[in-house]
Amino acid sequence: MASAAMSTLNLTSSPLNKQQLRLGAATLTADHVSSFSSTIPAPSLCYSSSSSRSHWQSINPTSRRNPWRRAGINRVVAKSGAGGGYKVAILGAAGGIGQPLSLLIKMSPLVSSLHLYDIANIAGVTADLAHCNTPAKVAGFTGKDELAACLAGADVVVIPAGVPRKPGMTRDDLFGINAGIVRDLAEAVADHAPAALVHVITNPINSTVPIAAEVLKQKGVYDARKVFGVTTLDVVRANTFVAAAKRLPLADVDVPVVGGHAAATILPLLSKSRPKIPFTDEEVEALTRRIQNAGTEVVDAKAGDGSATLSMAYAAARFVEASLRGLDGDGEVYECAFVQCGEAVAAPELPFFACRVRLGRDGVEEVMAAELKGISDYEARALEALKPLLKKSIDKGIAFARQQPAAPAPAMG
Ligand SMILES: NC(=O)c1ccc[n+]([C@@H]2O[C@H](COP(=O)([O-])OP(=O)(O)OC[C@H]3O[C@@H](n4cnc5c(N)ncnc54)[C@H](O)[C@@H]3O)[C@@H](O)[C@H]2O)c1
Repeated sequence: MASAAMSTLNLTSSPLNKQQLRLGAATLTADHVSSFSSTIPAPSLCYSSSSSRSHWQSINPTSRRNPWRRAGINRVVAKSGAGGGYKVAILGAAGGIGQPLSLLIKMSPLVSSLHLYDIANIAGVTADLAHCNTPAKVAGFTGKDELAACLAGADVVVIPAGVPRKPGMTRDDLFGINAGIVRDLAEAVADHAPAALVHVITNPINSTVPIAAEVLKQKGVYDARKVFGVTTLDVVRANTFVAAAKRLPLADVDVPVVGGHAAATILPLLSKSRPKIPFTDEEVEALTRRIQNAGTEVVDAKAGDGSATLSMAYAAARFVEASLRGLDGDGEVYECAFVQCGEAVAAPELPFFACRVRLGRDGVEEVMAAELKGISDYEARALEALKPLLKKSIDKGIAFARQQPAAPAPAMG
């Protein structure tokens, strides 16, 4: 399969293996996610341009060093040979994140059907993307009337719909517009794709994920294992910055990022970085600040033209790929995400919390609560400081969703 002409798109996940981090496990229920686990990488995607039947294959350049990775790859290639099979719907697909994300997902060997929805400009994006000779079939949908057809049968629904920040804005400043967008889209997901994994990208994630969860609850179809706030970009940034600061190969670096996805609620656990790296207090302070403010770095650099789109699309594609591998039966897929696990992981008053989870056939199968044990004093203080901030955002989202409860979902035919 691989050849000299092959170009790679590295969506490599955290490069740990099971032996490095064995923390115990417990079973999850649909209502409540709480348990422990360990960390394993996702495969890289690779486009084989040398083949007459060009298609995306899954390879991993560092497989020699990690037998877990190799095992995962074999499964993905076998599935790919059968033409994939999963349906992914992207809501907000014509936007700054939506377009490159759609392209990356169009390249996944696990995806056979890609449905793109937006309130604007979706026909052009769909026509453009459909010309890529990768197997996934692309279809475009626009307007509320077409939302049902877009969502029907989706395995994963990704939501980047909504407005991004401009310089000087916090993520919470987006609540006024984005809360309603996520509520309406979550209602449609409940009605037309109640079994799908839901990946919420729209900010403020600390509030929009509780909104989506609350709407699904009101509709009677909530499964805590299946609703995610996509915080992968925080991990991607942390890995990039730590590798650069410590002059380490990128593929070797794994930094869990927990808490939430806004300013001080973003907490990189540098003490839990792999490989084990010594940091001075100054380095911890500087890296933590940079990871927390990385989104603002991009917003300021774009000077009014939006927030992170390309890196976010990359991160979201990595999370979709990880989720699909979980659905596909790969038992060793680990990512950080903002999920309902907080009561067990961080504090009873925090239902939602970003932490590392194991992804499987039903979404979240295990939560690495133990990763929060044995953290540094600096991190322990930051964790205590973020709790009231995160609680306020979660409560705000839940209160919003409860103001106008959604009608129960219609029975699926
Ligand atoms: N989770 C993260 O780490 C992260 C990172 C960066 C940005 N974001 C968030 O992602 C969101 C999107 O950012 P972007 O840069 O792509 O914005 P954008 O404005 O470029 O694109 C948003 C798209 O959503 C569409 N849209 C708006 N309302 C819609 C609706 N009701 N239904 C369907 N589509 C709708 C718009 O037409 C547009 O195409 C923002 O809220 C941003 O803050 C999250």
